Amino acid sequence: MELAWTERLSVGNAVIDSEHKILLDMINDVEQAIRRRDSVALPQVFKQLENCVRIHFANEETIARAIDFPFSHNKLEHQYVQKELQLMKEELMARNGMWSESAAEHYSYFLSEWMVEHILKEDMLMKPLLQTYPYDFKPAALGA
Ligand SMILES: [Fe+2]
Repeated sequence: MELAWTERLSVGNAVIDSEHKILLDMINDVEQAIRRRDSVALPQVFKQLENCVRIHFANEETIARAIDFPFSHNKLEHQYVQKELQLMKEELMARNGMWSESAAEHYSYFLSEWMVEHILKEDMLMKPLLQTYPYDFKPAALGA
């Protein structure tokens, strides 16, 4: 199923929302590579996803710190997901760029479920506080 960003996924901050849109697109790319059984594209899009997730988590933490949001709960989720992505990547590499059919089905379900839960259950916790700032709030520590 194609994931698409809608207004109900907005957490009240432009940086976070736009990164979520990119991540949703990347998960769609991963799923497309799985559907095509493309063992060249899959490792590429998966590494790209992993990289963007890492940057996104760091940015979220910077924003949380700037607005004084207690981030420890979100941080646990971030560590868990990064470990899962690492395991998925290792398995992908060990299998020359394509998971078994059952693993691919499981992982693609995991990625979509995780992404939506990450937004709705974790990042949404920051929304009330983020909404007391302008939508385009961007702490200086975030860089350009
Ligand atoms: Fe997020």
